[in-house]
Amino acid sequence: MMSDDNNEDKKVTKEFFIDSQDTEKLENYQYPPIPEAEYCPYCNKKLGWKGLINPFDKNRIFSWCSIMDCDCEEYKKNKELKRLREAEEKKKQEEAERKLAYQRRIEKLFEQSNISKRGMRRTFESFNVNKENEKVYTMARKYADNWEKYKEEGTGLIFIGRYGTGKTHLAFAIANSLLIQGIPVIYETFINLMEKLKESYNNEHLNYYEIIKLYCECDLLIIDDLGKERLSEWVLEKLFQIVNTRYENMLPIIITTNYTEKELVKRLSYGNDGKTAESLVSRLNEICLEIDTNFQDYRKK
Ligand SMILES: Nc1ncnc2c1ncn2[C@@H]1O[C@H](COP(=O)(O)OP(=O)(O)O)[C@@H](O)[C@H]1O
Ligand SMILES: [Mg+2]
Ligand SMILES: [Zn+2]
Repeated sequence: MMSDDNNEDKKVTKEFFIDSQDTEKLENYQYPPIPEAEYCPYCNKKLGWKGLINPFDKNRIFSWCSIMDCDCEEYKKNKELKRLREAEEKKKQEEAERKLAYQRRIEKLFEQSNISKRGMRRTFESFNVNKENEKVYTMARKYADNWEKYKEEGTGLIFIGRYGTGKTHLAFAIANSLLIQGIPVIYETFINLMEKLKESYNNEHLNYYEIIKLYCECDLLIIDDLGKERLSEWVLEKLFQIVNTRYENMLPIIITTNYTEKELVKRLSYGNDGKTAESLVSRLNEICLEIDTNFQDYRKK
């Protein structure tokens, strides 16, 4: 008996809709007034309404929700066309939304990167190549174009040379080229990096850790003008911590500096203890390809 009941139940629940023109079936239901019939726009056949059966009360029609489909070929063809058009439209819309989301992400990355408006204009395209700088330009370009490989190896760059030779320009060019591909890059002048660390530590604890985290974890960290300023023991330790964390995690760093390796160690050393500075510079040497820019100042040409 039980199973019979169940079967009966299933038979009813299989049907969700009923045609208002199916008068025989309709007799078993309670239903709201049927709206006026409509006609197929292609064959002019009279069409009924689709009645939605109340799922909680199988003998009741909930509402007349739409016109029944016609069974003529033209109707079917047009319905299919409409479905395809709508799918196409939806795809386009999704594509546009994805693009917008991507653009927002890039904008956010640029914002986060600290690169100034001026910095954004320092690209490979705005860099004039001449005989002297051709080699360093090519190396910088190669780095940006083969980022995946360098990232995999954890290899960075260290631009060493006198002022005005385009070190910062090329570092920006690399950053811009990566950011536009959606790769998180943080740019910081050495002086700002020190200031930010100091300030954030004094002000808000949490902020400090967020900053450290950003420097330690972004895909590429650029430190511009390393050694330009003398630094305290505390800042040196923090700098070492950042460089070392990136070293351990094989995350590339790009450095620009006016100082040779020896000079850098000297300038970064605090008091008599040159050990931290030495380890720091030696780490950088290990993971950064050296790019020598000791040619004439670009602006003096
Ligand atoms: N080859 C170049 N083409 C165009 N502009 C250059 C070139 N080299 C340097 N500059 C410009 O000269 C100025 C100094 O260059 P910069 O990259 O700041 O030098 P550095 O960092 O080596 O001191 C910047 O305004 C930079 O955009
Ligand atoms: Mg510079
Ligand atoms: Zn029809």
